[in-house]
Amino acid sequence: MESLTITASDKAGIYEEILPQIKEITSGESDIVANTANIAAILKEAFGFFWVGFYFVKPSGENSINSTENGSELVLGPFQGPLACTRIKYGRGVCGSAWKEKKSLVVPDVEQFPGHIACSSLSRSEIVVPVFAKDGAGNLLDEVIAVIDIDSKELSTFDQTDALYLEQLAQMI
Ligand code: SME
Repeated sequence: MESLTITASDKAGIYEEILPQIKEITSGESDIVANTANIAAILKEAFGFFWVGFYFVKPSGENSINSTENGSELVLGPFQGPLACTRIKYGRGVCGSAWKEKKSLVVPDVEQFPGHIACSSLSRSEIVVPVFAKDGAGNLLDEVIAVIDIDSKELSTFDQTDALYLEQLAQMI
């Protein structure tokens, strides 16, 4: 596999360069762990984000009887960055809220988000984008199977441009 080469300096330009590369990588590989691991690496390398990773919707552990959606919770998947929380309940924090609301959440200041889960005190802003299941023909279903979570050490790093491109990226998984 060729290494990542980024020539653009603006946010949209960087997404325009990496999305075709991600599409190529994911279309040739069906394993979700392998694909999300490479996507986390590409996003981290291209943008230098503080933390980039995935949480997968999985059956809850035996100690997690509350606040679950059909007995499920978010469990940490491939990521790049510092140590992170391993399990997040339905509706909790930014990740659990994006899962519950089935929509992307852009958080300019994590201290202003009620219930934000501080995996690192250095995180100041955040974006979480849901990943939806697909049917056998590749059509999107209404079921969230994972979320993409990106954290920044700066305030207001993310906006609708990130949401737009990350939602396109989510459909490639
Ligand atoms: N801050 C997230 C938790 C995950 S960490 O940022 C990696 C949240 O509130 O859901």
